Amino acid sequence: MEKNFDVIIIGGGPAGYVCSIRSAQLGLKTACIESRGNLGGTCLNIGCIPSKSLLNLSENYHRAKNEFNNLGIESNSIKLNLSKMMNNKKESILTLTKGVEFLFKKNKVTYIKGKGSLNSKNSVKVLDENSKESIYQTKNIVICTGSISKTLKEIKIDEKIIVSSTGALSFEKVPKELVIIGGGYIGLEMGSVWKRLGAKVTVIEFLDHIIPEMDRDISNEFLKILKKQGINFKLNSKVRTAQIVKDKAVVDLTNNSNFERERIECDKVLVAVGREPYIEGLNLNKVDVKTDKQNKVHINNKFQTTVENIYAIGDVVSGPMLAHKAEEEGIAVAEIIAGQAGHVNYDVIPGVIYTSPEVAVVGKTEEQLKNEDTKYKVGKFPFLANSRAKVNNETEGFVKIIADAKTDKVLGVHMIGPHVGDMVAEMCLAMEFGASSEDIARTCHAHPTHTEAIKEAALAVDKRPIHF
Ligand code: NAI
Repeated sequence: MEKNFDVIIIGGGPAGYVCSIRSAQLGLKTACIESRGNLGGTCLNIGCIPSKSLLNLSENYHRAKNEFNNLGIESNSIKLNLSKMMNNKKESILTLTKGVEFLFKKNKVTYIKGKGSLNSKNSVKVLDENSKESIYQTKNIVICTGSISKTLKEIKIDEKIIVSSTGALSFEKVPKELVIIGGGYIGLEMGSVWKRLGAKVTVIEFLDHIIPEMDRDISNEFLKILKKQGINFKLNSKVRTAQIVKDKAVVDLTNNSNFERERIECDKVLVAVGREPYIEGLNLNKVDVKTDKQNKVHINNKFQTTVENIYAIGDVVSGPMLAHKAEEEGIAVAEIIAGQAGHVNYDVIPGVIYTSPEVAVVGKTEEQLKNEDTKYKVGKFPFLANSRAKVNNETEGFVKIIADAKTDKVLGVHMIGPHVGDMVAEMCLAMEFGASSEDIARTCHAHPTHTEAIKEAALAVDKRPIHF
């Protein structure tokens, strides 16, 4: 096997595999090292893809069981077959991870299976599954080893009763009672899945609102909708411990305002309190690659670490831990290594929560703009007044567009409602082109589509919506 490369990429997740393909496209002799046995990283194997599979299937099940009869589709014998559902999820993962392997072959990326670590500024050591060590020489190294689930100091995850997202994607039967610690992305997506499949779900969140960094209008509406769906919330509450007692778990929490303590007994606990960079065994100290207190690898605006020819991208560096942000960085760093001007616009990174309804956001929140003392205007349009949403019985939520008070430039878009996870792409494009709300308002949107809610929200910025 070839032992000399222009660039070696450590990690085959969305950051690493995209960086590998783009590097190879640019004519760089490229190798990607991955230890998981499958390409695609957390996203394809134990994150975005399996969770979206379960979100889609559980939503179909829930609709068929609870809504179809009222809509003239009689379906009295709907039954859950969880193991078939899980098999479908596994097959989707396999197809997609094999797809990435095919793309490596097509683009002539060398795929090295094993655990990579820094050996020197210009060499990487790989330990394969048979404990055989090999050294590869390279001009450049890109670290994209991703992140792992965090836990709380007093809580030990056994992935059976007290689980991380990995365990929650593979329960063998529907838990009677599931307690989720953390009302963030993972907590609310996984909570939705298991609630729809029949579990009693309680989410415990430290703050007094869910999805901390989102626009407060969205966070409040989202909470209202999820409560209506039957998810219980204990906000403003800190989990102290969670312990396994026989085959159950006992979660101990304290209300942050009145300090009252409460214990909840349940079948499963999902700890979803964030993720942290995964840098274990990389040997960063050996070549003086520096990290901060949270283990994030230090980089400059060209993704270079404290060692010039060693770069880092994705979840191991700062910024949102999102697959699409990591992919953008993968492309940018490959282009920089190839001598081009790679760049990521961090002002236009969308965030999507794939619940029902979906939540999708891009740009600044009202709270951020107030803090910055930027003057702005807001236009809002409810899906209740959108004809397509109305005929589809999906009327919850709204589109909110925030534009600069003086220039009318769109600064942020915050949506909750049907299909907004796809609709946000239009808003990203608009923002990339520096659109004003008037540009969006004057763009013809097909009728009847959910996207008309975007046009109407843009009209509402100027206080002239037509249908509301
Ligand atoms: P998160 O940061 O979104 O939410 C964690 C929540 O836990 C926060 O609301 C925090 O206040 C709360 N918390 C922390 N300590 C607590 C305690 N002791 N008691 C109660 N609550 C506590 O993290 P999450 O949901 O684990 O997701 C991890 C990462 O994965 C995120 O960065 C997210 O961007 C990414 N992700 C993205 C998805 C998507 O794009 N749809 C889906 C799933 C994950």
